[in-house]
Amino acid sequence: MSKVIYIDSTGRRYTVDATVGETVMATAVKNGVPGIIAECGGNCSCATCHVWVAGEFAPLVGGPGDMEDDLLDMGVSERRDTSRLSCQIRVTEDLDGLTVEIPPEQP
Ligand code: FES
Repeated sequence: MSKVIYIDSTGRRYTVDATVGETVMATAVKNGVPGIIAECGGNCSCATCHVWVAGEFAPLVGGPGDMEDDLLDMGVSERRDTSRLSCQIRVTEDLDGLTVEIPPEQP
């Protein structure tokens, strides 16, 4: 079990227990965290699960794959260096305490 912390655009924090191996998107949806819509259900084709990974976790999480990178370029309103699609991040023991910010709007 690892913790994932989601921060919404108002600064509200949601700290949830995440199952190792599950995605950051699925963990949010399962726990009723608002702002992660996940229209495509995790198929890396909608970009409505966009998050900004907190700086200190960015190196651990790593960068996006090619398909995700394209989608981030085309599909999100404010792409940052730490932008990721949360359906493409799997929770691991090492990511315990992973903190992500949810943008004010999803595409
Ligand atoms: S849920 Fe659609 S791209 Fe992540």
